[in-house]
Amino acid sequence: EKGGYPFYMLKEIDEQPAVMRRLVQTYFDENGQPQLDKDLLAKLNEADRLYILAAGTSYHAGLVAQPIFEKLAQIPTEVHLASEFGYNTPMLSEKPFFLFLSQSGETADSRQVLVKVNEWGYPSLTITNSQGSTLSREADYTLLLNAGPEIAVASTKAYTSQIALQAILAQALGQKRGVAAAESLPLKGQLGTIANTMQSIVDEKQEMDDLAKKHLATTRNAFYIGRGYDYAVSLEAALKLKEISYVQAEGFAGAELKHGTISLIEDGVPVLAIITDERVASHTRGNIQEVRARGAQVITIAMESVAEADDDIVFPDVEPLLSPLVSVVSTQLIAYYTSLNRGYDVDKPRNLAKAVTVE
Ligand code: F6R
Repeated sequence: EKGGYPFYMLKEIDEQPAVMRRLVQTYFDENGQPQLDKDLLAKLNEADRLYILAAGTSYHAGLVAQPIFEKLAQIPTEVHLASEFGYNTPMLSEKPFFLFLSQSGETADSRQVLVKVNEWGYPSLTITNSQGSTLSREADYTLLLNAGPEIAVASTKAYTSQIALQAILAQALGQKRGVAAAESLPLKGQLGTIANTMQSIVDEKQEMDDLAKKHLATTRNAFYIGRGYDYAVSLEAALKLKEISYVQAEGFAGAELKHGTISLIEDGVPVLAIITDERVASHTRGNIQEVRARGAQVITIAMESVAEADDDIVFPDVEPLLSPLVSVVSTQLIAYYTSLNRGYDVDKPRNLAKAVTVE
């Protein structure tokens, strides 16, 4: 069933290019136009604000999608941890629309918000990998990830497919609203390119194994830094590493280093920098110098247009807004190999369940 793989997580990482291609087949017509439920788009078009609700990795997929919705569809977008939204509900706009992101469709923290949203009578969409799940049944609309079963506790292909499907939704809405950025972005072609780029990374997984062996074999902690689009990825990268390898990992915005976190940097600490966003790449390079000067072991994951000669992982350019789809794959593999090399059960980390059905 694992198709020759030692763990489901590695199989699911490797499946990501195919999952991207399946999403393209499912949600675009032959003219390259996104094809989504017309009622859903009409309802979304009436909204003045999008509220994305999720937990864990799905929350991180929402963080990546926030600028995509704002740029491609020009809809103000907020991303919330479902649990916190439940206790500390923000002031809502006049015409809110709620998007629930949930691989399993069973997450209790997300469901408690959907129950309220239904009481309030606001429209909702669930993006899920699980047809017929609770969140799917209870929301007005559902879009399926069609990613195939995700069995490893650590989510990988659900994260990337959630980002891609949200981008498709943002483009469809933007086109309906006549947003130039949505009309000019060849999203279908870009997702095809991204599938190929993901493939080139999974084909070179030995590199990530080597980096994990060199820098993460025995460390007790590690840091991920990024700015702009790379910040959201650094949060997900850190979660992946901590949940399966038990390395205490933190992801933070590069600029925050000087506001406190840099005091944690000492000799030998691994700092993984993600650099794809050209607006801020030079500032992240500055952070790298600062932490190196304090003895950190730096690993860099960079997109070609902002790469430097000694970067550890360099991947070809893709649309910057969508670069998290690619940069995250290296970090998934680094987490995987760190856990594997430490001899852990990668698919079943201690204390965790695949679907969290309690609040
Ligand atoms: C981490 C992970 C969890 C889930 C979270 C939400 O790898 O898998 O953080 O993302 O429990 O689950 P879903 O998406 O099923 O609502």
